[in-house]
Amino acid sequence: MSDFLSKTLDRVKPSPTIMISAKAAELKAAGRDVIALSAGEPDFDTPDNIKAAAKAAIDAGKTKYTAPDGITELKQAICAKFKRDNGLDYAPDQVSVSSGGKQVLYNALMATLNPGDEVVIPAPYWVSYPDMVLLAGGTPVVADTSMQTGFKLTADQLEAAITPKTKWLIFNSPSNPSGAGYSAAELKELTDVLLRHPHVWVMTDDMYEHLAYGDFKFCTPAEVEPKLYDRTLTVNGVSKAYAMTGWRIGYAAGPKHLIGAMRKIQSQSTSNPSSVSQWAAVEALNGEQDYIETSRPVFQDRRDLVVGMLNKAEGIACPTPDGAFYVYPSIAGCIGKSTQNGVEITSDEVFATELLEEEGVAVVFGAAFGLSPNFRVSYATSNEELTDACTRIQNFCARLK
Ligand SMILES: Cc1ncc(COP(=O)(O)O)c(C=O)c1O
Repeated sequence: MSDFLSKTLDRVKPSPTIMISAKAAELKAAGRDVIALSAGEPDFDTPDNIKAAAKAAIDAGKTKYTAPDGITELKQAICAKFKRDNGLDYAPDQVSVSSGGKQVLYNALMATLNPGDEVVIPAPYWVSYPDMVLLAGGTPVVADTSMQTGFKLTADQLEAAITPKTKWLIFNSPSNPSGAGYSAAELKELTDVLLRHPHVWVMTDDMYEHLAYGDFKFCTPAEVEPKLYDRTLTVNGVSKAYAMTGWRIGYAAGPKHLIGAMRKIQSQSTSNPSSVSQWAAVEALNGEQDYIETSRPVFQDRRDLVVGMLNKAEGIACPTPDGAFYVYPSIAGCIGKSTQNGVEITSDEVFATELLEEEGVAVVFGAAFGLSPNFRVSYATSNEELTDACTRIQNFCARLK
């Protein structure tokens, strides 16, 4: 029977974050007391003005097919957003709207990769990047970062990863899973390298733009280095910024010929993203922006709570990230120890499995993101839950011998 399935499937694995969240939900349903810190979505409700816009769109009959890559009103709102927040000039025919940022990235890779083409992906990376590259027939080239550089790629590391076959650098700041955010000066060091390699384009995943804390100021490659404008695809979306993960709207802006190629792929696969969600996204981008300002300090407080508590757990070292809603602590100090059940912690995967087993806390192991030994905590949940979960992690670590 497996002969029936495409060989493409042999190249990819299911999303580990989705699998772990499903496992946590399964244990919960079976009556276990489980706290899931594995899902990458805000726990807030979508703001009321956005919901009202969706209801109004339904009542007005805006429920039919739209142009395959988005309605003009949304493309205009996206252009206005890029101008307002990033100082970038894009016209509506340089914009593509898809069912989530995930589809935007997928379309772009499908539209550009040929066998042998390489894509540089700094690790730790969002789990889907390498698999999407593989699905599109390309070759992921993983460039490891380290905790010493705050999980940020250095110019030398980028230079070393580039070959004549490199087509893209996938850049993600603030990062899922590390929360690392590049300052304009740090990003400029990378864009300077790209200027020396005119065949390399940059796909920047700016999904966590608005989740930026303290002194960190978000910036994006085409803004920092305008000379890269013609070889940059700037990807963003409403999922994380406006607590709209289920609405499935992501977007990108870039050179017209690339946007046209992405449209061709979308028009022959899914066609337009939900018409109602598109109208909701118009309101998200054009309407009141107060949700962003009110949710940011809440996330920042949670970050500080989690970083403080995890650093008190024996064997764990947790840097303070600049943005997103994740921390990516190291468990180097736990490797080689054993749990009370006698299981030796040989990897971050064993650590996460035993933590779920013994304490009912679901986190995602670092190997899923390409950099070990670490784990990812999503702190997009209440202070009570975070305190409870971090206390359990402290207890788990205290029992390791
Ligand atoms: C870095 C990053 N990019 C893209 C996405 C996809 O976002 P969307 O839900 O809009 O498809 C996610 C979602 O987890 C993400 O973390």
